[in-house]
Amino acid sequence: MTIADRRSLVPGRRATDWNVNPPQGTAGCRLVDLPRITDPRGNLTFIEGGSQVPFDVARVYYLYDVPGGESRGGHAHRELEQLIVAAAGSFDVLVDDGTDTARFHLNRSYYGLYLPRLTWRELGNFSTGSVCLVLASQRYEEDDYYRDYAEFAAARVAAGTVPA
Ligand code: TYD
Repeated sequence: MTIADRRSLVPGRRATDWNVNPPQGTAGCRLVDLPRITDPRGNLTFIEGGSQVPFDVARVYYLYDVPGGESRGGHAHRELEQLIVAAAGSFDVLVDDGTDTARFHLNRSYYGLYLPRLTWRELGNFSTGSVCLVLASQRYEEDDYYRDYAEFAAARVAAGTVPA
């Protein structure tokens, strides 16, 4: 898919509509192995800012009670970095750096998906009871969002990261 094709897509499309490349390295996104303390009483995973995530955590939020077939996201951030964890259940994260796209299926509480700034993302295929935990490098700021794909793509070109 060319960037021109993606620019013509409207926000709000379903994650399952995406036809993407293998999930390796796209957009500077990467899976992070989180520590696991296994215990017969139940397992424990922890995340420390500056260690498992390359930023200080300023905010935590989570998505839950997502109805079947719904998608979330559909935006990028100017500065914000995030780590996304399937704290329960599973879902897909589709990422796009303006050039390449990838789909990450998150289904373990001990994997995090790191998303750098200027990454378009959509989340979908949520399983029943899933919880999407997000650690973020900044507090909520609407001005940090690109909610329009064309605006995001132009910013990527301006940043010199993709050919015009
Ligand atoms: P948004 O990030 O747009 O979620 P999604 O892209 O999955 O739809 O957030 C949805 C709404 O929640 C939006 O009105 C802003 C608000 N919100 C906050 O107030 N604080 C937050 O930390 C987040 C993530 C969202």
